[in-house]
Amino acid sequence: MSETVLHAQGLEKRFGAVVAASEINVEVPKGACLGLIGTNGAGKTTFVNMITGYLKPDEGRITFGSVDITGMAPREITRLGVCRSFQIPQLYNSMTALENLEAAFGIVLLNSASGGWFVSPRTPVPGYGAPIRELAEQALERFELTAYRDKVTRVLPGGVRKVLDIAMAMAVQPTILLLDEPTSGVSAEEKFGIMDMVMGVVREAGTTVLFVEHDMEVVARHADRVLAFYDGRIIADGKPDEALNHEQVLKHIVGNTQHVTTGQ
Ligand SMILES: Nc1ncnc2c1ncn2[C@@H]1O[C@H](COP(=O)(O)OP(=O)(O)OP(=O)(O)O)[C@@H](O)[C@H]1O
Ligand SMILES: [Mg+2]
Repeated sequence: MSETVLHAQGLEKRFGAVVAASEINVEVPKGACLGLIGTNGAGKTTFVNMITGYLKPDEGRITFGSVDITGMAPREITRLGVCRSFQIPQLYNSMTALENLEAAFGIVLLNSASGGWFVSPRTPVPGYGAPIRELAEQALERFELTAYRDKVTRVLPGGVRKVLDIAMAMAVQPTILLLDEPTSGVSAEEKFGIMDMVMGVVREAGTTVLFVEHDMEVVARHADRVLAFYDGRIIADGKPDEALNHEQVLKHIVGNTQHVTTGQ
């Protein structure tokens, strides 16, 4: 059995009368790639928000390695190595793609500054050994964003904004990356290419991934395990071919007639 990096136990979250999470128990092994599926309002983002500290569960416990991260602030959780991208990308809209990435690496540098706060753009970023500009340029290349280098992010297409948000989350060299709908708002033709590229980069870095996705083909292609959410609960948890063809998943999520064939 490989090492567990993340463990959610008995998570519950209510918003007034709405039960957004109930009896959520998930153990994530190091290096896994989990696809999170479910209808709108099923509780996927709530789960991601609880893991990353944007929401505090009403009950339950979340551990990252041996650290109890339940109720910690997002910033603290990020520093430990649990990072995310958002359903709606969180970018500095008036800055260029390059500047956004420089800001992301700059935060890594500032967070690690031990000998006071004197850092310059030429200071090597710990963990990388290269300065901010060089790392930002490399990230642009790795995530196929070079064409957008000097474009203000406000004007960028939805898919590019999504990829940039993910590239920025990866600046921290996270142990775990949670992606909330990385391809929503991206055209069907672009979706597969973007996911192949992003997953290639992220998996090559050895990052454990949890991604929320509505397209079952994308899920079947990239996930080695699927968590199916329905009405705040996990109704199936298993290998893609099992979970995507689980009776309750077919009924509530995939649709009654569709049978999903996995590509792996
Ligand atoms: N901050 C909030 N305040 C009140 N209700 C909320 C809040 N966040 C989520 N909810 C409710 O909790 C339930 C779960 O929402 P959540 O956003 O987790 O769903 P989701 O699975 O991510 O859906 P989608 O696929 O539409 O993104 C929904 O009923 C939603 O309306
Ligand atoms: Mg959501």
